Amino acid sequence: MTCPPLTRRHLLRGTAALLVLPALPALAETAPPPIHVLKDPACGCCSAWIAVLDADGFSVTVEDRAAEQLARDKRDRGIPEAMVSCHTAQIDGYVIEGHVPPADIRRLLAGRPAALGLAVPGMPFGSPGMGPETEREAYDVFLIHRDGTTAVFASYPAA
Ligand code: CU
Ligand code: CU
Repeated sequence: MTCPPLTRRHLLRGTAALLVLPALPALAETAPPPIHVLKDPACGCCSAWIAVLDADGFSVTVEDRAAEQLARDKRDRGIPEAMVSCHTAQIDGYVIEGHVPPADIRRLLAGRPAALGLAVPGMPFGSPGMGPETEREAYDVFLIHRDGTTAVFASYPAA
């Protein structure tokens, strides 16, 4: 999955979206375990997603990977082809693929299902790091089971 070219328009809107993110709720919650992100250095939307996690109280470490290595990392971790997005993260034994909202990661960690992790395949516009929620396209967050099957974990309607 290659990143969409970030146009100037996207960058400006992305910046505006980050500024309106509420900073207060995250502080009241317990700090989640550290999250480690593998990403393509050329991918701007990955950094935008990382900034969203940061603002939400996650402690994020980042590792740049060449595109072919990143694709291998995804296969090695058992992420099904249909679930692939840009960045791949690891938190507390779970894989997080793509622009998964922080709230869903917290819900995963709270429920601790026997699963590989969560994915938002592709890069839906309006998902965290992908432009303003006010212009969001509908998308689902999937739970990836260890056998590679998936189930809808959360659904976000179009704005
Ligand atoms: Cu992306
Ligand atoms: Cu990314």
